[in-house]
Amino acid sequence: MTPSTPIARSAPIGVFDSGIGGLSVLRHICAAASDESLLYFADSGFAPYGGKPEEVIVARSLGIAAFLLQQGAKALVVACNTATAASIKAVRERYPNLPVVGVEPGLKPAATLTRSKTVGVLATQRTLSSEKFNALREQVEAASGVRFLPQACIGLADQVEKGELHSAPTLALLQAYVAPLLQQGADTLVLGCTHYPFVLPAIEQIIGQTTSQNIAIVDTGEAVARQLLRLLERHDLRGGDCDAGSLRGYTTGSRTALAAAFDRLLHLRPEIAEVVLQMDAAQP
Ligand code: DGL
Repeated sequence: MTPSTPIARSAPIGVFDSGIGGLSVLRHICAAASDESLLYFADSGFAPYGGKPEEVIVARSLGIAAFLLQQGAKALVVACNTATAASIKAVRERYPNLPVVGVEPGLKPAATLTRSKTVGVLATQRTLSSEKFNALREQVEAASGVRFLPQACIGLADQVEKGELHSAPTLALLQAYVAPLLQQGADTLVLGCTHYPFVLPAIEQIIGQTTSQNIAIVDTGEAVARQLLRLLERHDLRGGDCDAGSLRGYTTGSRTALAAAFDRLLHLRPEIAEVVLQMDAAQP
């Protein structure tokens, strides 16, 4: 797509993540906009993004954006906190007329929920060390007086990619990541990675074993879906008709693994294609 290409309302929305985590956002988009056609791109052959250098994530994101636009996408959702922090600016600069929605850890909603003024933030190393996250953190801390405790959850997105949502190793990781936050007084936890809503029952188990307090959990998937609809309205791009409600998946990993994840996590069975990303598409 070039900036002057006219876009049809019936064109699909492209959604991508390093892997299957973005399905936790896609489910809210499906619920909020059942008349929209959707393309989901999982970069599972290259996941996780969380420990990779920023420039590598920028190149992957630009390559995926180019691919989804070649498939006719009218808007993009970067359904990955790590990719949003690293590359949303580059994607917006490359496609200035395209509606692009990203995902950020929900620090603002968490600041309004916490009573102890202490909030744990579960995210990848790359998100927590990003300029974008730290600017948001400083701004919300200054405005609210809330203390944020960032916790990098190394290995957790991998467990979700493997389908280990409640296994002993997954619970052991969560014990190591979540319990210390609660012991430091956090009464609110931000899920700052789109893979983590899929281990919510395991997180709740660790919470129950650690404290008798009520702990609020913040996930921004629904807010992202609402923001997408607002942006589509603003660009006069809301509402499909011809192929309304269709869904296609693309993966740089295994087709059967993405199909199994769709079925297990969303009870959906879209057509899925394996893709080799042309990284020269990421070059200017
Ligand atoms: N789902 C991703 C996020 O929201 C990244 C997980 C990873 O690839 O490390 O941050």
